[in-house]
Amino acid sequence: MTSNTAQYDVVSIRNDFPILNRKIFGKPLVYLDNGASTQRPTQVIDAVTDLYENHYSNVHRGVHTLSQESSVLYDDARVKVRGFINAACVHEVVFTSGATESINLVAQSYARPRLQKGDEILITHMEHHSNIVPWQMVCEQTGAELKVVPISDKGELEMDRFHELLSEKTKLVSVVHVSNALGTVNPVKELIDAAHALGVPVLVDGAQAVPHIPVDVQKLGADFYAFSGHKIYGPTGVGVLYGKEKLLNEMPPYQGGGDMILSVSFEGTTYNQLPYKFEAGTPNIAGVVGLGAAIDYVQKIGLGAIAAHEHGLLVYATSRLRRIDGLRIIGEADQKAGLISFVLDAVHPHDIGTMLDAEGVAVRAGHHCAQPVMERFKVPATARASFAMYNTFDEIDVLAEAIVKTIGMFS
Ligand code: ALA
Repeated sequence: MTSNTAQYDVVSIRNDFPILNRKIFGKPLVYLDNGASTQRPTQVIDAVTDLYENHYSNVHRGVHTLSQESSVLYDDARVKVRGFINAACVHEVVFTSGATESINLVAQSYARPRLQKGDEILITHMEHHSNIVPWQMVCEQTGAELKVVPISDKGELEMDRFHELLSEKTKLVSVVHVSNALGTVNPVKELIDAAHALGVPVLVDGAQAVPHIPVDVQKLGADFYAFSGHKIYGPTGVGVLYGKEKLLNEMPPYQGGGDMILSVSFEGTTYNQLPYKFEAGTPNIAGVVGLGAAIDYVQKIGLGAIAAHEHGLLVYATSRLRRIDGLRIIGEADQKAGLISFVLDAVHPHDIGTMLDAEGVAVRAGHHCAQPVMERFKVPATARASFAMYNTFDEIDVLAEAIVKTIGMFS
């Protein structure tokens, strides 16, 4: 089957990703582990190489030409991120090492100083560990309590329970935009509006959302929004914390060090302004520059077109996989992004992963850093095929045939 989105040139997109030419055990690579990490186009690889070959030095620290050039490239990437998520201003964009650090920053700098015994943090049962453990830690530190919104058998949030659990005790809601284990797209606007009606701020973990659906933080009204570079065709070790200026201004620095200060003496230190207050030490300059190039690339293709293509893949893959005897899809929300978690009656997910790899098909097998989701669906693990802008309908056919072959070998 070929793409039904006429103007969407998946062949030309694939040509931008050198690694997609790889053979695995002599078979063409079918890369369906994009939820764990996407691949990078030449444009991102070239931007990082160009930085190192022609412009590299430390940023915001030198008057010499290379430091100036690196600083301009670094600061330009922040402008690109601002436009990409429609933050109100550039200093609402803080560069971090990834979504995980972004969430920990909010837990320690926003929540910890405000929380007391009796207060509550509200999360959901479908969170990634990175949106559970930081809150458990801050609850231990402060005596606050973690409340969890349950999920239905389809893998959707139980919204009635959300409204019941949200109360004057809630000091922050932290919710995933798109579940990495189920693919569920949560109604974050509705959650944010309800929380705001009680004056409760909301952090959205957008790591699995920004590569797949257009995100406008102002339209959503999110107080904080976190994502990672490597899931959106950018480098590893870089990510973003968006925060509303007023909230970020009220928060103390998360880490101390160079670049986050205006002046330091043994009598006291004056902190730098936003966003540098939260970017202590030499940052991941190449990562940030690469992320800027990744955002340019995604915007050139267009998130609307990417979302439509991936939705087509999801619909096709769902119908193909549903027809396989002994295969159960975990997570069948009405609103889903392009990923399918599944289990087979006869084969453990890790064996599925190994067998599919032998056919050139890369999927993730395991608990996906979302053990509570596995426990909710009473499975030890799942296999997960997660799609990106460069995947094709033919690759879905290869996946389906490799699963059927796997079942045949284990029965
Ligand atoms: N969070 C990443 C995943 O879902 C690693 O695979």
